[in-house]
Amino acid sequence: MVVKCICNDISFAEMKEFMSRENIHLFEELAGLMKIADNCALCVPYIRKMTETGETEFGIIRESGSAEFKTCSIRDKQI
Ligand code: FES
Repeated sequence: MVVKCICNDISFAEMKEFMSRENIHLFEELAGLMKIADNCALCVPYIRKMTETGETEFGIIRESGSAEFKTCSIRDKQI
């Protein structure tokens, strides 16, 4: 499961709580106030989905492009 911005070690649940506390609703607002999504940006589609659905745990998003590939690359670096 994907549950956080790995680069900044901030969970989607923490982001959701912050959004509720600050009464913000958009990814752009969140990214302007929290240190998230500012490095590899792999978390961006997950954070956007969190802001839309309120969910905080996700399977890997396989969008056209390279989300899956990049996730595998990160995993390889951590081994
Ligand atoms: S995982 Fe969020 S910036 Fe890298």
